[in-house]
Amino acid sequence: MAELVAEIAAFRELLADRRQAGKTVGLVPTMGALHAGHRRLLEIARAETDVVVASIFVNPTQFNRQDDLHQYPRTLEQDLAVCRAAGVDLVFAPSATEMYPQAQLTWIDVSALTQHLCGPGRPGHFQGVATVVMKLFQIAQPDRAYFGEKDAQQLAVIHRMVKDLNVPVTVVPVATVREPDGLALSSRNQHLSPSEREQAAVLSQALFAARDLVEHGERSAAVIASAVAPILKDVLLEYFSLVNPENLLPVERVEGPVLIAAAIWIGSTRLIDNVKVTPLA
Ligand code: PAF
Repeated sequence: MAELVAEIAAFRELLADRRQAGKTVGLVPTMGALHAGHRRLLEIARAETDVVVASIFVNPTQFNRQDDLHQYPRTLEQDLAVCRAAGVDLVFAPSATEMYPQAQLTWIDVSALTQHLCGPGRPGHFQGVATVVMKLFQIAQPDRAYFGEKDAQQLAVIHRMVKDLNVPVTVVPVATVREPDGLALSSRNQHLSPSEREQAAVLSQALFAARDLVEHGERSAAVIASAVAPILKDVLLEYFSLVNPENLLPVERVEGPVLIAAAIWIGSTRLIDNVKVTPLA
C-alpha cells in the first residue's frame, strides 16, 4: 500500500525506520502524469530494492516557460493508483513551498554537458533538474535511483553530478518505452491532438533511419542529418544531432558509440527522443 507523504521531515522519519531495519531504498523521481515508461522504472526499482519510493513533484525551477509549467499535467489520483499497482511503498509528493521554502541560492550546474542538444533551447532547465534531483537525493538518501534513457542529456547530467559530488547513489538508466509506432512515451504526448499524435511518429522514424545508416557504414554526421531531413520536413525541427554519449559534444564523424538525439515541435508540443548506436569496427 503506497503511503502518501508531503512533508520532508515525516518522509525522512519513515525512511529512517526502514533503513535502520537494513532495507535498501530505490528512488524513482517523477513529475507525475505517470505512464508505462514510469511503470517500467517502478518495476525495476521494485525488483532491485527493498523500499521503493516514487517522488511526484512538478519542479518549477526546471521550467523556462511559465505556460509550460502551468500546462504540465497534474494527475495525482491516477498516479497514486499506478504507484499502488507497481508495489511502491512511499510516494513523496511535496508542495513547491516544502521543496523551496526560501529563495534557492545554491544551484548545481553541470554546464559543460548542457551547451548542446536541449540546453540552448531551455535555458536554466538542467540547472533546475540537477538541483532538484540533488535535493531529492539528500532528502531520500536512496541506494539506487532510476531514470529513463529518453531524457539522455538529463541522465548524463545526473551521472556526472553524482560522480563529481561523490553522491553515494547508484544511478540506474532504464530503456525508453515506446508505442507500437515507435513514439517514445512522454507525459507531453497527451497534449497532442489525434492528427498531431499520428505525425509524432516521424521523430523515432528519423532516429531509427539514422541508426540504420550508421549500422550500414555511414560515418558522416552531415550526410546522416541530410538523409533523414525529409522524414522531418513537416515538423519544426529544434535540433537533430549526433553527439559523443559521454561529453555530449557534437561529432562530425562516427568513430565510436554515438548518441543520435532530436527535438521537434508539433504545434505547441515539444518532443525529444534519442537512440544510441555503436558502429561495427
Ligand atoms: O524527468 C523528470 O521527470 C524530471 O526532470 C525529474 C528527474 C523528476 C526532476 O524533476
